[in-house]
Order: sequence, then structure tokens, then C-alpha cells
Amino acid sequence: MSQETVAVVGAGVIGCSYAASFAAKGYRVRIFDVRDDYESIVRKMLRTQLSEIPSTDVDVAMERVSCLKTLEEAVKDADMVQENGPETVDFKQTMYTALEKFCDSETLFASSSSGITPEVIGAKMKSPERAMIGHPFNPPHVLPIVEVCAVPDAPDELVARLMDFYERAGRVAVRLKKPIDGFVTNRLQYVFQREAIHLVKEGVVDMEGLDKIVMASLGVRWACVGPFLAGQLGGGDGGMRGLLENIFARLDEPMGLQPLSTETLEMIEEQGGKSYPLNKSGEFAMVRDKRQLSVLEALEKNPLPKAD
Ligand SMILES: NC(=O)c1ccc[n+]([C@@H]2O[C@H](COP(=O)([O-])OP(=O)(O)OC[C@H]3O[C@@H](n4cnc5c(N)ncnc54)[C@H](O)[C@@H]3O)[C@@H](O)[C@H]2O)c1
Repeated sequence: MSQETVAVVGAGVIGCSYAASFAAKGYRVRIFDVRDDYESIVRKMLRTQLSEIPSTDVDVAMERVSCLKTLEEAVKDADMVQENGPETVDFKQTMYTALEKFCDSETLFASSSSGITPEVIGAKMKSPERAMIGHPFNPPHVLPIVEVCAVPDAPDELVARLMDFYERAGRVAVRLKKPIDGFVTNRLQYVFQREAIHLVKEGVVDMEGLDKIVMASLGVRWACVGPFLAGQLGGGDGGMRGLLENIFARLDEPMGLQPLSTETLEMIEEQGGKSYPLNKSGEFAMVRDKRQLSVLEALEKNPLPKAD
């Protein structure tokens, strides 16, 4: 079990869930929030969340958690600070200058920010490259992703230390090569939701119908293989490029999209061929289908409650 200490600053929806995930993995967790009543609320919430994490002894994990009265006490000597405060530039900038003041030079800082870039968060720091992003997907004690990014000139060694921290903490850490508004998860989510809203607004389908379509098709598929591997397997001998050219290209005009350039299609063919060689499609497809059947079985075992 780890003897490292993680400070969780801001214990609302995300902070509390992140704290549960770190405590379950054996880290000492120090929490700080400005709400007067936060300790009792957080302790109750943590118990529930810890009980949802497989193979976790809730009482043992709870003993690793302390709730502090000041920011300084919580973050002093911590190995890593996960910041989960309000999503405003003012808050993040003020918090990061305080963290820099109270912490050792080796302490790692990561913000859960959903879209404020590291340049903006670190703008007032003496060492702005220390403001990194560790963006989770709600709730982080259940969903393992963390998108990691830093300013473009951050030392590789610093970002590598944060990646290593998250990997040891059991997360699926993906480093973004450069910061972008909304990061990857929120951009994908938003574009998908915008089209879903459009289809409902145009009267093509109602909300419940659209959700059913996703739960019985794309949601299952993407949980198992992701959109690029899905595309590579869906295009037969032509891979994803074939799928795009032969099937999807005819949707460009009705959906108001620019056709994909030859350069883009070549990039897809090249990267797709490296990550998912077409001569291995049969093997990939077999695992995709086993995974899809397991997800479908889990969905069937856990029906949604009725609305009335
Ligand atoms: N909710 C989501 O789905 C989600 C998903 C991913 C990332 N995020 C990001 O996580 C961060 C937190 O979001 P949330 O949804 O948990 O918000 P929240 O409002 O639930 O929690 C924020 C917490 O910060 C506390 N706080 C305010 N000022 C503080 C201070 N000076 N010091 C310490 N704590 C302070 C508040 O009391 C509150 O408990 C945001 O940056 C958000 O963009 C949210």
C-alpha cells in the first residue's frame, strides 16, 4: 500500500469521489473545503462511494482520510494535490498561487478543471508549468479515465511524474499532446449531445428513443473498442478509410459537413494501420464481440428504474 499523501482541495461532486478512489488505493488523503459543514457530509458520502469500489474495506480506507480546517494544513508536505474547486479562472489562479506558496517544490499539482487550460490556471504562478490538468469523468471513483495535459513547454519529466502517479493510483491516464478547450472528453460529449438534441428537436426521435438507440448500439460498441478501432473493423478490407469513403461521405452534404481531405484520409489509414493492422481485424473483432456481449449482459442485469 502507498505511503504517499494526496491532498484533495474542494470536496464537492468531483473532489469527494476522487478522494474515495485515492483512499481505496491506499493513499493517505487530506481533504480541505471552505464549507463549514463539509466534514460530516464528505465522510457520509465517502462511505457510500467506497462501498461501490470493488474489494475495498470501507473502514480501513476511511482511516486513511483526514479532513483539515485550512488549505495550508491539507497541502503542506503532500506528494500530490488534486484541485477540485469552482470552475472559474479567478478561483483557479488564486488557488494555484496559494498552492505554490504552501507546498514543496516537488509536489505535483493537478486541476480537475473541465475546460480551463493550464496556461490560464498557471498564469499568476512563479513556475506556471506546475499547473497541470488531471481531468476526470464523473464519477472518478467509478470511471478510470484521467486526461493529463500541461503547457507546451512543461518539462517532460514533470508530466511523466504526474502520469506515473495516476497510473499507480489505478487510473487510465492519457496524456494530451497539447491543451485544448474542453479537453477530449467534453468536446466529444458535447458534439454528440448537440446532434442528439438536433434529432429530437427536428422530431426524428424522442429523448427516450434516442437513448435506447445509443444504449443498444454505439454506447456498447464504444465501451468495447472506441470509435477508431470500431471504424477500422467496420470498413472491412478498406478499414476506417473505406468506411468513410464508401458509406459516410454521402452524409457530408445533408449534415452540412466539409468532405474529409485526402490528407486526412491518408492519416487515418496510416495511424489506423499501425494501431490496428487490417490483417489482425479478425482477432480484434472476436474480442470486440465478447466484450459487447458482456456489456449487454451487465445492462440486462441492471435495468433502469421506471419513470412512474
Ligand atoms: N461535475 C462534473 O461532472 C465534473 C466533471 C469533471 C471535472 N469537473 C471539474 O471539477 C471541478 C469541481 O467541480 P464539482 O462539480 O465537483 O463542483 P462542486 O461545486 O460540486 O464542488 C466544488 C467544491 O469546491 C469548494 N470550494 C470553493 N471554494 C473553495 C476554496 N477556496 N478552497 C477549497 N474548496 C473550495 C466548494 O465548497 C465545493 O464543495 C471543476 O473544476 C469542474 O469543472 C466537474
